[in-house]
Amino acid sequence: MALNVEKLRNDFPCLQKKFDGKPLVYLDNAATSLKPNSVIDKEAEYYKEYCANIHRGMHKMSEQASREFELAHEKTAKFIGAKSEKEIIFMRNATEGFNLLMYSLCAGDFFKPGDEILVSRMEHHANLVPWQFLQQMKGTKLNFVELNEDFTLNMDDLKGKLSSKTKLVSLTQASNTVSSIVDVKKACEIVKKNSQAYFAVDAAQSVPHLPVNVRDIGCDFLMFSSHKMLGPTGIGVLYGKEEILEKMQPFMYGGDMIKEVKWNSSSWNELPSKFEAGTPAIAQGIAFGAAIDYLQKVGMQNIRQHEKEITKYALERMKEIPQAKVYGPRDLEKRNGIVLFEAGKLDCHDIALALDEHSNVAVRSGMHCAQPIVESLNPKGLARASFYFYNTKQEIDVFIESLKEIVGTFK
Ligand code: ALA
Repeated sequence: MALNVEKLRNDFPCLQKKFDGKPLVYLDNAATSLKPNSVIDKEAEYYKEYCANIHRGMHKMSEQASREFELAHEKTAKFIGAKSEKEIIFMRNATEGFNLLMYSLCAGDFFKPGDEILVSRMEHHANLVPWQFLQQMKGTKLNFVELNEDFTLNMDDLKGKLSSKTKLVSLTQASNTVSSIVDVKKACEIVKKNSQAYFAVDAAQSVPHLPVNVRDIGCDFLMFSSHKMLGPTGIGVLYGKEEILEKMQPFMYGGDMIKEVKWNSSSWNELPSKFEAGTPAIAQGIAFGAAIDYLQKVGMQNIRQHEKEITKYALERMKEIPQAKVYGPRDLEKRNGIVLFEAGKLDCHDIALALDEHSNVAVRSGMHCAQPIVESLNPKGLARASFYFYNTKQEIDVFIESLKEIVGTFK
C-alpha cells in the first residue's frame, strides 16, 4: 500500500520546522529518527497522570505505571515475534544490550581462553568494542567475516570461519554505513549447522525499517534502540531466548532484579526483571510502546517499500553528480535507505556543514561509529544521508540540487 506521506508528516513537530523560511530536510535518520506527537504525548502522559515508580507501590499511580511499562514489553514482544515479554529486556540502547551480553556471559564463565567470537567487517562499534575488551579480559579471539565486493556479507567466508572454537557469532542485520542488509536467517542456519555458537543480531538499523521476526530468524539474541524507531532516547531492547536468559547471570545487581535478599546471598527475580536492575527509564519505556503502535499502524512492509522507492530515486539522482561516489550494494533488495558517499576531494564535514547552511539538509559526516570500515574507504571519513518513511522525493531533490551546487562551488 502506498503511504500517505504528506498526512503522516503532520504527526511530526520537527517536520514543521523552518530555518530562515526554508523547511528542514531531515536525512539523518540512521543517527536518530524524529518523534511523532503520539510518542511525545505518551511520555508527557506518564509525568502528568501517573508519575510513580513501578513494581514498588500498592497505590493506584504505581499500579498504572507498572501496567503501562509491562504493556510496552508485551507490545515489543509481539512486534518482533518473541514468545513472550519474558524475552524482552529493556536497556538504555542496543549498545548496552551488547555489553549486557558480553558481561553476563563472562560472569557465567561462558568464555574460555582461545574461544572465538565472529563478527563482520561492517559492524558498528557497539558490536565490536565489547568483543575487543573480552579478548583482553578472557583471552578470547576476535575474528571477522569478510564482505563481497558489493559490500554484502560473504556467506561462504562465514561458513569457512566457523569451528568448534566459535562461541558466538554476532552480525548486523543492516549496516549503518555501507547499507547492506544481511540475510540473518540464512546466516543463523549456517551458524547452527556448522557450530555450537550462539547467534546474536544487531538490529538497530533493521527493526525500525523492515519486518523482523526473531523466531523466523532463529537467533539467540537481538538488540535494537527505541530512538531510531520514533521512540524516546534512553530505552532499547535486548531480545534473548527465554531458556538462555534463564541460565545467564544478571548484568547489574540491586533493586527490582531480586526475589529475596539475605545478608550474604540473594536470588533473582523472574524475567525480564532479572536483567532490569534499579528504577528503569519508565516514561521512555511507556512512550516506546506508543512508537511501536505508530509503526504498526503505518505497517512495516509499507515502510520498507517506501524507503526502497526513495532510495532508488536518490541513487539515480546521485549519478547526476560525476564527482560523487556512493558505497554500498546497488541491488535494492540487498540494501537499506542509507546513502554513504563522498564528493570529489571535499571534506565530508564540509559537505555536511554546507548542506545544512545552504538548504537545511541534515546529514551525518565522519566515521559513523564504524571507524574500521569507513576509514578503509576514505581515511578522512564519509558523508551519509539516511531516510525514513516520512522522507519524500521532493526532499531528495533539495538534497541533490544543494549537493550539486556545493560540488560546483568548491571544485
Ligand atoms: N549509530 C548511529 C549512527 O549510525 C548513531 O549514526
